[in-house]
Amino acid sequence: MIRLAPIVTIDGPSGSGKGTIAKMLADRLGWHFLDSGALYRVVGLLAEQQGITPDSPGMLGDLARTMPLRFDSEGRVLLANADISDAIRTEQAGNAASRVAAVPQVREALITWQRSYVRPPGLVADGRDMGSVIFPDAEVKIFLTASTEERAMRRYNQLKEKGLNVNLARLTAEIQERDERDRNRSVAPLVAPAAALEVESTNLSIDQVYLRVLERVREALPNLHWD
Ligand code: C5P
Repeated sequence: MIRLAPIVTIDGPSGSGKGTIAKMLADRLGWHFLDSGALYRVVGLLAEQQGITPDSPGMLGDLARTMPLRFDSEGRVLLANADISDAIRTEQAGNAASRVAAVPQVREALITWQRSYVRPPGLVADGRDMGSVIFPDAEVKIFLTASTEERAMRRYNQLKEKGLNVNLARLTAEIQERDERDRNRSVAPLVAPAAALEVESTNLSIDQVYLRVLERVREALPNLHWD
């Protein structure tokens, strides 16, 4: 298949820093950015609101296929024109996302949507299965990890900064539970894709991780034009 644009995938567990790195890279390159987790978060949130559980996989698939969702040019998440960008960022929405993300009908419904993001001049895609399932022929694949404690601490600080009241022990337990579900589900489990550059970031700063990623992108795409 002829592709319209090059792709960099950045996968990893929650709190690994992949969202930050993916956004930095997309901004640097002037490429499009796909936050695939946001799609699962919206489905999770809507499913909770409508009382649809994973026991009704067909209904969840229909929900994912028909939700009136779009991202605006600033990356805000709009559902039928209502801005739900903040509502999907809570831990509750993340956990709801992880539950619906194990449902094959939901994953299937979101495939076309995610692939439609491939547009010139390029795409940086952030998620759990970007390099393994959605874009297996991506030019560059990155897999970011960090210890559970470090990831929980990063999330704790992020939430604190937003003025939210958080309990570190509970957050750590929730992150563990979410990881387990994401790694052990039967469809598209969280795995390091073949040929991915794995970066263990527990003791690295964001800038150090970013430099390693940039280096890999430069190697893999030597003809890229850098300003
Ligand atoms: O990355 P983020 O924390 O926003 O993702 C929320 C949840 O959505 C993850 O815990 C995971 O279960 C699911 N997800 C997924 N596949 C993706 C992106 C997210 O299963 N590509």
